Amino acid sequence: MDIQKMADIATKLGIAFPSAEVYGGYSGFYDWGPVGAELKNNVKRAWWKEFVHGSHEVVGLDGSIITNPEVWKASGHVEHFHDPIVVCKKCGKRFRADHLIEDALDINVEGKSAEEMTEIIRENGINCPACGGELGEVKLFNLMFSTQVGPYEGSISYLRPETAQLIFVNFPRLYQVARKRMPLGIAQIGKAFRNEISPRNFLFRLREFEQMEIEFFFDPESDECPYYDEVKDYEALVLTAKMQERGEKEKKMKISEIVPDIPGREWIVHWIARSLKWYEKIGVKKDLLRVREQLPDERAHYSQGTWDIEFYFAGMGWKEIQGVAHRGVYDLSRHQEHSGKSFEAVRPDGTKFVPMVIEPSWGVDRVVLAVLFSAYDEEEKRKLFRFAPIVAPYTVAVFPLVSKDGLPEKAWEIYINLLDEELNAVYDEKGSIGRRYRRQDEIGTPWCITVDYQTLEDNTVTIRDRDSMEQVRISVDEVIPWIRERMKHWKR
Ligand code: GAP
Repeated sequence: MDIQKMADIATKLGIAFPSAEVYGGYSGFYDWGPVGAELKNNVKRAWWKEFVHGSHEVVGLDGSIITNPEVWKASGHVEHFHDPIVVCKKCGKRFRADHLIEDALDINVEGKSAEEMTEIIRENGINCPACGGELGEVKLFNLMFSTQVGPYEGSISYLRPETAQLIFVNFPRLYQVARKRMPLGIAQIGKAFRNEISPRNFLFRLREFEQMEIEFFFDPESDECPYYDEVKDYEALVLTAKMQERGEKEKKMKISEIVPDIPGREWIVHWIARSLKWYEKIGVKKDLLRVREQLPDERAHYSQGTWDIEFYFAGMGWKEIQGVAHRGVYDLSRHQEHSGKSFEAVRPDGTKFVPMVIEPSWGVDRVVLAVLFSAYDEEEKRKLFRFAPIVAPYTVAVFPLVSKDGLPEKAWEIYINLLDEELNAVYDEKGSIGRRYRRQDEIGTPWCITVDYQTLEDNTVTIRDRDSMEQVRISVDEVIPWIRERMKHWKR
């Protein structure tokens, strides 16, 4: 399995496909079909349930995509949000300079300046990969999409490149609404846009994508996490900055051992471990996840320390699907300075402080990709997705054995009842029963219910399990508790 094969499968099954395919697609933009829209919505719903409803300290926000451009000046995005670009002098094609060097020399050039990268290209004789022509100088290219707002020339704003800033800029209001609670987590799911120089690898590097972010504000003088005992012994594959400098590989360690003694340390461990536990719940394979500490010169302009959660994608290697960054007081201080308004919180003794921030930030599309890679399986006779039931596009399919003699009516009644109970069901009466099972296996439906002649006699149905292909016969009245029980206890 590689990323191209996954892209082909996803296109064929209606998971996700190039946007506006009939016009040749549009680089960096994908549309989600019926199966993919269900899968992606389920991932987002599971996330909201886990981290917003399931966290005493966290509340939600739905901020605008376009906002006052002052936000992006204050945040540093106008000044710093760049990638290095290089143009071929012969054919005019544009490339991301760091990717070009990495591909040609297999070295990491994160943090190198434009001049240093130009030097590396010259010294190593790297030419245009398209036509072999000479490459120009490396320049910096701002990744924000700009747009004109209203009919006034020069009234330029930007599509947000991260959802996070809408949380920061609204902090004074949200702090009041949350009755001055501290620590306070504010969560948001939504689209983000980056004019990536070389979007690639299917859903991995997009120009329009979605993020699920939490900005977790805390008082550096009172930064204990009450749930620390639950996570302090949690182990995972990790790769610290020091291990990378020594050329070592990732190894199993306690997360609590890899985060240094900085303000908010316990919360950082909490957010990393909780994220990893959540991945298991949604069916991401634990042995394909690792936590990698970013090297100092890799970090974003706001970061005092960042731990990436990476997934091992066959054919691509370890790639970031989530970051957990310590943003310190950078963002709130910048907005306070720029707007002239107070972004402070108040302690019980009346002293004021600018809260610090820990930011766990997930890319929805990359998490879905990790779910797809974890779930895909090929057997001798079938190809299937073994999705965790909480994210499977459909939880259960209902079939009449034949489409006559009252079986469709009975199957339809069961199907409607499942929908009424908020289980995402699908009804199918077309084709042989074997083909119908295969169709559901392909899109990862965990269970299929078949209504046969015996159903009409004793009100029982068969339920077939996707993974074991075993069938049991149970009463129609037991179907819903039977499914709910298995959803609750599902393990890969
Ligand atoms: N607010 C912090 C922030 O935006 P980031 O590391 O730039 O940090 C967070 O992005 C997550 O968003 C990444 O871990 C990744 O999953 C996702 N992401 C970033 N750029 C992306 C892109 N071009 N296409 C798809 N997902 C992307």
